[in-house]
Amino acid sequence: MVSLTGKAALVTGGSRGIGAAIVLRLASEGASVAFTYSASSEQANRLVDQVAKAGGKAVAIKADAADQEAVREAVRQTAKHFGKIDILVNNAGIIVLGSITEIQEADFQRILSINVHSVFTATQEAVHHMPDGGRILHIGSVNSERMPFVGGSVYALTKGAIFSFTKGLARDLGPRNITVNNIQPGPVDTDANPASGPFAETMLGLMALKRYGKGEEIAGLVSYLAGPEAAYITGASILIDGGFAA
Ligand SMILES: NC(=O)c1ccc[n+]([C@@H]2O[C@H](COP(=O)([O-])OP(=O)(O)OC[C@H]3O[C@@H](n4cnc5c(N)ncnc54)[C@H](OP(=O)(O)O)[C@@H]3O)[C@@H](O)[C@H]2O)c1
Repeated sequence: MVSLTGKAALVTGGSRGIGAAIVLRLASEGASVAFTYSASSEQANRLVDQVAKAGGKAVAIKADAADQEAVREAVRQTAKHFGKIDILVNNAGIIVLGSITEIQEADFQRILSINVHSVFTATQEAVHHMPDGGRILHIGSVNSERMPFVGGSVYALTKGAIFSFTKGLARDLGPRNITVNNIQPGPVDTDANPASGPFAETMLGLMALKRYGKGEEIAGLVSYLAGPEAAYITGASILIDGGFAA
């Protein structure tokens, strides 16, 4: 395992699902971890306790990713608390489904705000507090490359934006040895996409490996990309999808 002792991290949307697995993994490797959430205070507090009991350090910050000033403030609070931010994981995201004739303007604006605008805002603020050699990771989706269903166009649009943003950002931040990478999961068992949910059978039919992924598997890739062995990887979008796009 890679040691992240002495590193400070911020994970957006870290109270549940993939984000919570990332918080636990980074903390278990010695990083001090702040994470945001918008509603699930109980889960957030439980996660802070869980990390503390394991001897780690985690801080929960209530900040709705749809509110750009709140996102900026959460980044500032993290930097104030830890003195810096070495690792930013842009994980917070929602799924809005609906075909082009159904999707409502308000839903379109909300998903853009959470899945795209907040990634820009958190990144722009974090780089002011990030030492050279830092790490920026986005949790995108395999759907930036493959959207085999009706009704997923807008979700795919948001994750496609993250795919492209990753490349440009890697150029902007390369001179500071800050790497920027985009992790693109396939189906992962969370509240947003339960392995027992109505889409599960269709998903499995499209995959090389006939199972959902686990948050811990995504967290393992985050840990690798945040660590010293990954210092030469930047601008990459990496699939971790059970062969969904194969
Ligand atoms: N699960 C999958 O199959 C899958 C596949 C590919 C990509 N992804 C991506 O992985 C990321 C995490 O997904 P997940 O499945 O873990 O989702 P999830 O189970 O719904 O968890 C989402 C996390 O983000 C937080 N969050 C949601 N809306 C937020 C907001 N407006 N502001 C701040 N935090 C917010 C939630 O906390 P609160 O409820 O308290 O806000 C929760 O901690 C997303 O970007 C998603 O697009 C997921």
